[in-house]
Amino acid sequence: MKVVITGANGQLGRELVRQAKSTDFEVHPFDRQQLDITQKNRLKQVLARLSPAVVINAAAYSHVDRAEDEPDRAYAVNSDGPAYLARFCADYQHALIHISTDYVFDGNSDRPYRESDPIAPLGIYGHSKAKGEAAVRSALPQHIIVRTSWLYGVYGHNFVKTILKLAAEKKALNVVADQLGSPTSAADLATATLIIARKIGTAKKLAWGTYHYCGAGITTWHGLAEKVIELATRYTVLRIRQLEAISTAEWPTRAQRPLYSALDCTRTTAQFGINPLPWNQSLQNTIERIFTGK
Ligand SMILES: NC(=O)c1ccc[n+]([C@@H]2O[C@H](COP(=O)([O-])OP(=O)(O)OC[C@H]3O[C@@H](n4cnc5c(N)ncnc54)[C@H](OP(=O)(O)O)[C@@H]3O)[C@@H](O)[C@H]2O)c1
Repeated sequence: MKVVITGANGQLGRELVRQAKSTDFEVHPFDRQQLDITQKNRLKQVLARLSPAVVINAAAYSHVDRAEDEPDRAYAVNSDGPAYLARFCADYQHALIHISTDYVFDGNSDRPYRESDPIAPLGIYGHSKAKGEAAVRSALPQHIIVRTSWLYGVYGHNFVKTILKLAAEKKALNVVADQLGSPTSAADLATATLIIARKIGTAKKLAWGTYHYCGAGITTWHGLAEKVIELATRYTVLRIRQLEAISTAEWPTRAQRPLYSALDCTRTTAQFGINPLPWNQSLQNTIERIFTGK
């Protein structure tokens, strides 16, 4: 089964390529230099030439704070690019799996967000991703949008790797403890995405639409940092002695973030038989890979 992966050099993209290459998928990965999803004509050319069964869009402008100062770039990559992808997928009859975010929600919920809950993004990043979702929905019936949250992994920049670095350098750290969410391993998300891709290739009938996928369980950034440090001390000596819990108000950022963004994955489990692992178990797997290089 032929699969095109965009954003192949991102933290999710690299996991997707790594895992897809170890299966019988015929993988065609493209990083930003090889295929910029905002370049309409080039995109059209590549999709027409390859004619994949499924396109997986892991490309994104993922800088939540910087997006406030670079809205044009955020909208180009997160809205216009997915719109072009969806349009060409419709023209050439490819299916599209598009990755989106928990930041399309405003965080006022008191239970994990379902796919049908109303969206109300707080910042440019979330808004640009919401616009990308809408463009995909309107151009292409054969789409799966997978919203995920608090993504981390072995590759690229992410919160877990930042904490590892800071905990090795500093004795004390302050981490926000009043934002709740579900950390998601890029490796687990890649596995889930490829299960969906395979279903697209094999199922006679598919429930197209929007799905949620994140690690099971809910924590705070402080809770996640605490667990990262606990797990990392099995492999290395860290300098950190004190992990202070602070509030969002004490850590002002350029973009406002939802205070609650856990996702309800029931629909994904029911449709695709995908059962997310507990977030701390997946974190353990990732920390082990980071330190052992396996
Ligand atoms: N990171 C999170 O915490 C998080 C949370 C929820 C949802 N998500 C979503 O999950 C998906 C994967 O995120 P990620 O963390 O893997 O992001 P990432 O590490 O930033 O990877 C995104 C990749 O897209 C590439 N890219 C940027 N502009 C592009 C363009 N115009 N054309 C083609 N490629 C382009 C980037 O290349 P360059 O690096 O060269 O720019 C990068 O390699 C995204 O849809 C994101 O919105 C992420």
